[in-house]
Amino acid sequence: MERITNIVNAKVWLKGEIIDAGISISGDKIAKIGKESNLLKAEKVFDVGGRIVLPGFIDVHTHLRDFKLSYKEDFLSGTSAAVAGGFTLVLDMPNNKPPTTNSSVIKARIEKAKKNIYCDVGFYATPKSPEHVRELISAGCIAIKIYMAKSLDGEKYSTKKEIYDLIKETSSLGIMLSIHAEDLRMIKRFNDSPSAYLHAKTHPIKAEENAISIALEAAKKAHGKINICHVSTLGGLIMIKKAKKEGVDVTCEATPHHSILTNKVFEKFGRVAIVEPPLRSKKHTEAILKGILDEDVDILATDHAPHTLEEKERAHPGFPGLETALPVFFTLVKDGLLPLDKIINAFTIKPAKRFSLTHAGEICAGKVANFTIIDLKSEGKIDQSKFFSKAKFSPFNGMVTKARVYATFIRGKEVFLNGEIVSEKGVGKVITW
Ligand code: NCD
Ligand code: ZN
Ligand code: ZN
Ligand code: ZN
Repeated sequence: MERITNIVNAKVWLKGEIIDAGISISGDKIAKIGKESNLLKAEKVFDVGGRIVLPGFIDVHTHLRDFKLSYKEDFLSGTSAAVAGGFTLVLDMPNNKPPTTNSSVIKARIEKAKKNIYCDVGFYATPKSPEHVRELISAGCIAIKIYMAKSLDGEKYSTKKEIYDLIKETSSLGIMLSIHAEDLRMIKRFNDSPSAYLHAKTHPIKAEENAISIALEAAKKAHGKINICHVSTLGGLIMIKKAKKEGVDVTCEATPHHSILTNKVFEKFGRVAIVEPPLRSKKHTEAILKGILDEDVDILATDHAPHTLEEKERAHPGFPGLETALPVFFTLVKDGLLPLDKIINAFTIKPAKRFSLTHAGEICAGKVANFTIIDLKSEGKIDQSKFFSKAKFSPFNGMVTKARVYATFIRGKEVFLNGEIVSEKGVGKVITW
């Protein structure tokens, strides 16, 4: 007999609505949802004090690093940040040292992760060429990722033909292909450290628009499916919307930073705010926010990209995002700028469906007992010094928040509670295709 835990005194997100209910957990699975009087007889009762229990949040775009990049982040610190931020499943990006471009690296990442993760993790991989996709899948990757503007290990996917050939392969095998869309020919890289202004100027709007257009044409021609990472431009979003209307099987992600931070923050945060694609003007953040509202943005993702502060001074792009995403988005909900259901869906059911994460995405009997429990009545401030991530900086630092993550359940156990990690490491599982 599996051990039973009941979650009581809860408001539960069930089929798109908040209802007063309790949840019985058996082992690592959801056994029953219903009136408290109808729950199973439990060894343990967890009273959530009237807070909202959501399906475990999924981040399809996390850079966990580890191995030779452990000085930036490792599986333990990265998944600590994940559960502290309310995420129960993260998909790890392949631009690592060594890069996740062959089966032995995937296997090594899986082996090391198993013992060191606080939440569920899946691994992206980048094939050296399309015929390698199959072996990456056999080695256990969960999805495929390509960078149109850079190469991790000698591979090249920048032209329509190169991307078309890859889409043919990934789509015939059914696995999702995520694309960082920036056109190599339109961006400039520096040896010395550009300012945030100069960095943004040399990663122009046209570089994203052009790359998205190439990717969409390739997907259309291949009759295949793709996901565009971190869309940051009005024009890019319009093209994706148009392609969907024409029947192209495309989805896109947006990040919290591209939704509300403009290039105005460069003044205050300097190189900390450097990210790829860069922060843009208000016209674009407004378009992304409206895109979330209209569901033209399908998936929300953090692009958690930890670096050291010294690297940030050398203009390395990206910043941590796992611990700021939920407080930021739920504050927008409280401010009446976004409806609750759009945020929840874009972090749960939609990524689960798109990436075939069948065990996750909703609260129903039989699914894994991963929950994100939020407090919509808690005022606070983003404090980068409190991050569990090794990267203790953020362009959201100091922002006033009106919501917080109260607790995170991984596979039936509370792992994060009221500001602290309360479980042993290794509670999360590695998810494979
Ligand atoms: C990412 C990183 O640091 O790995 N940086 C970023 O600015 N987004 C790489 C990426 O996602 O392009
Ligand atoms: Zn990217
Ligand atoms: Zn990049
Ligand atoms: Zn990224």
